[in-house]
Amino acid sequence: MKIHQIFFKNNLRNFCYLITFADGAIYCIDPHRSIEIINYLKDQSLTGIINTHDHCDHYSGNEELVLAYQCPVMAHSEALVPLKNKILQDQEIIYHGKNEGVEWTLKSIYTPGHTLSHICVLLEKNEKPFALFTGDCFFNAGVGNCHNGGDPEVMYQTISTIFKNLPDDLLIYPGHEYLKRNLEFTRNYEPHNLAAQNFLKEISTIDSDEHFFINTMKIEREINTFLRLESSDLCETLSLQNSNEKQVFLTLRELRNRW
Ligand SMILES: [Fe+2]
Repeated sequence: MKIHQIFFKNNLRNFCYLITFADGAIYCIDPHRSIEIINYLKDQSLTGIINTHDHCDHYSGNEELVLAYQCPVMAHSEALVPLKNKILQDQEIIYHGKNEGVEWTLKSIYTPGHTLSHICVLLEKNEKPFALFTGDCFFNAGVGNCHNGGDPEVMYQTISTIFKNLPDDLLIYPGHEYLKRNLEFTRNYEPHNLAAQNFLKEISTIDSDEHFFINTMKIEREINTFLRLESSDLCETLSLQNSNEKQVFLTLRELRNRW
């Protein structure tokens, strides 16, 4: 199994992913554009396209890829993506195969909030969570906005139930590259967060258009302020010491909209 990450140098800083299995199956998650994908595939074929949600920066490559490979397009039943012909509900198995003694499963997880028909794609290795492709639900050190068909309260539910329970060693593959901006947000609202400060130092000398970090959930739990709603540092900065976690989350989401 191989995960190939493609970064687009557009204003929105999109990521697209190609997952190749040893039996030749190849899935593309969120094709922002087709040309880079076609160039990568060379003479290989595409098995399927998965759109995490129906924002055009995540599906603009669909039509050209379907034309080139006649592959299915998969998304949530309510997601309005071009050429969708396979519906993914919660826990739907997309791929299952055994390669060299390792069992790989690709499945959709319903994660509403950024839009109400958003899914993440979970890759399991021997029935254990291995990697999560999070679309615009969850980013490195942040979560997605809710401006375009989303709902912050639903986002809170998704993050506080599904993401809170993900294992520490799970690898996170987000739909956009917003690491530095998000770390600065964490540092601003958690001024004593050493992990966020150190990460910012680490990335200060690298070219953020060329080098990308694949964080684990363990790292995210240290630097992603949306997962740290109980932090006294955070609650003090927000003057929300007597509020519940949901109020802290909604306040943070609102502040991040203007950050
Ligand atoms: Fe989006």
